[in-house]
Amino acid sequence: MAKVGLFFDTQTGKTADIAEQIQSALGGDSVVELNDINDVELDKLSEYECLIVGSPTWNVGELPDGWGGVVDDLSGLELAGKKIAYFGVGDQIGYADNFLDAMGILEKELAEAGAETVVNWSTDGYEFEASEAQRGDVFVGLGLDEDNQPEKTEERIAAWSEQVKTAFSL
Ligand SMILES: Cc1cc2nc3c(=O)[nH]c(=O)nc-3n(C[C@H](O)[C@H](O)[C@H](O)COP(=O)(O)O)c2cc1C
Repeated sequence: MAKVGLFFDTQTGKTADIAEQIQSALGGDSVVELNDINDVELDKLSEYECLIVGSPTWNVGELPDGWGGVVDDLSGLELAGKKIAYFGVGDQIGYADNFLDAMGILEKELAEAGAETVVNWSTDGYEFEASEAQRGDVFVGLGLDEDNQPEKTEERIAAWSEQVKTAFSL
């Protein structure tokens, strides 16, 4: 089993594409296994040493369907000692009051399960009003906006992945 399990959800495919880009930036499938949360049992999160959790935000500040179906069970997982890095995909212009909310919702639940959040991300370079994923001047994880800033995605993933490699000792 790979050291890192990446768990994601997607409704129109963008977050799945991002998950593949992150996998490749971190060294491929021998290092990072991709898991669509709609296709796996939730217990699988506890099998990996390190985790990456990714989500788009939908329906104005809501989790997508897959994460929404398991969110009540996340805080009950046994994740003490696990490190989790997060990424969120959203639309800062269309949904400025709820930008990347899903990433913040997931981080709160999984921190309650005892996991350590690693690699936050500066809010510089984004224009939005409010976000559940914001803590002070950082997001709890990598923020991506395929609707308005797709040209920044590659460099953002590259910079964030270097920090994840350090945090996970990859
Ligand atoms: C109806 C609708 C609601 C959305 N709500 C939000 C939102 O509240 N916050 C946000 O950041 N993005 C929101 N988005 C933008 C999506 O998260 C964004 O397009 C994302 O890239 C979709 O990812 P996916 O293809 O992986 O599902 C919304 C998009 C639509 C069409």
